[in-house]
Amino acid sequence: MSEQSFVLERELGWLSALIETSLKLYFNRECQYRDVRDLLPPDLPHSGSAYAQTVRDHVLSFEERAVLALALAPHLRPQALDPFLIRNSALDRVFTEFGGAITGPMQCFWPTLETAAFVLAGTDLERRLELQGLFTPGNFFREQKVLSLEEAQPGQSIFSMTLCLKPEYLARLTTGERYRPNFSDAFPAHRITTQLDWSDLVLPGHVMEEVEEIKAWIEHRHTLLHEWGLGRQIKPGFRSLFYGPPGTGKTLTASLLGKSTGLDVYRVDLSLVVSKYIGETEKNLGKVFDQAERNDWILFFDEADALFGKRTQTSSAHDRYANQEVAYLLQRIEDFPGVVILASNLKGNLDEAFARRFQSMIYFPMPGSDERAQLWNVVFSRQAQLEPTVDLARLSEEFEISGGGIVNVLRSSSLATLRGGRTLIQMEDIRHGIRREFRKDGKTI
Ligand SMILES: Nc1ncnc2c1ncn2[C@@H]1O[C@H](COP(=O)(O)OP(=O)(O)OP(=O)(O)O)[C@@H](O)[C@H]1O
Ligand SMILES: [Mg+2]
Repeated sequence: MSEQSFVLERELGWLSALIETSLKLYFNRECQYRDVRDLLPPDLPHSGSAYAQTVRDHVLSFEERAVLALALAPHLRPQALDPFLIRNSALDRVFTEFGGAITGPMQCFWPTLETAAFVLAGTDLERRLELQGLFTPGNFFREQKVLSLEEAQPGQSIFSMTLCLKPEYLARLTTGERYRPNFSDAFPAHRITTQLDWSDLVLPGHVMEEVEEIKAWIEHRHTLLHEWGLGRQIKPGFRSLFYGPPGTGKTLTASLLGKSTGLDVYRVDLSLVVSKYIGETEKNLGKVFDQAERNDWILFFDEADALFGKRTQTSSAHDRYANQEVAYLLQRIEDFPGVVILASNLKGNLDEAFARRFQSMIYFPMPGSDERAQLWNVVFSRQAQLEPTVDLARLSEEFEISGGGIVNVLRSSSLATLRGGRTLIQMEDIRHGIRREFRKDGKTI
């Protein structure tokens, strides 16, 4: 058994004992304890187990630990909560005292704050009210965004709200891994990664400098905002617009910023979101923003043109929706405390109000001949086998082509070589690949 499961096993055992004791005390059955608080929580090993570490790092109180175990139970051991499903024979219904919601295909018991109050406070009104304090601002559950109280219907009392563990905490506490949701209609974002390294990135010096500024911000933001106290004067996030022709390294740069600073990068395709999720954008993107904030992700909005120039006079209901959603998005982007990168091919008709929201606007130009020489070398040195007659320097002088274009040429010329039953790429394979690239853009050479 792994240490993590060992710790969770004992914690859930403790929870079961708490539940059993609270029921015995409530129904005046024979019991060796006079108060649930006499049941001390299990000792935690000095280990790397994420659960043990969380309890230790945040010095969780008896009550906090019990509430956390209670919120974990439906995920790890739903049967631990079965004792709450007994019926009150006098009324022929479940016990109001236990709180909880009975949901799902298995009709499982989901604890509410009432359930926690029953276990930890019994009929003691003062202790019951104290429990509310666990969910006030400044407290562990709220501050660390571990648990939320979710209401099934608006206007319910706080005690009838369900204890909901945030999915990232559930992942961290159970498997010890980072939470990485998959793309779905309800979560319109993909994590992007790259096999390349910072040293593969070829950009003109002044562009590189602007990119390095974002990296520096990620690395020093805590010092800047907290130690230097700039947090009172400046908004916490960093917003940057990457614009320029296709294949010039915008997506690559965003991925590398994440890779080199250890942050996950999530890409949202805005053209898709704005057209497909009409009316649903706020709900779906809201989730992406919330999770990005909790997990310190870099958010990368591709095809950001969908955000520009939409705010015109509108006629149709569809347009009005789109405008409303754009306004929502801009607000969330502006309030986001982490790094947001927007990418677009056009500078378009970016208005001033829009531009003011960015800390930087970086133009990714088509590479000049120096950069092209580096790109040809970087791209073709990776795995390609070249005939000695291949002159990459000459190609870089001759053709104005982007990094993305060169990667496509690598793909097509390698394939042509293999199809020809050869092992070395010839100049003609490359030239042929370049012609095809240019034809795609409607250019001839
Ligand atoms: N400046 C660059 N330095 C190194 N490699 C590059 C550069 N630009 C492009 N590449 C190569 O081309 C590939 C495609 O580039 P990328 O997807 O970053 O372009 P983009 O600017 O996002 O294009 P688009 O506007 O079409 O989305 C990269 O994965 C990389 O291999
Ligand atoms: Mg891109």
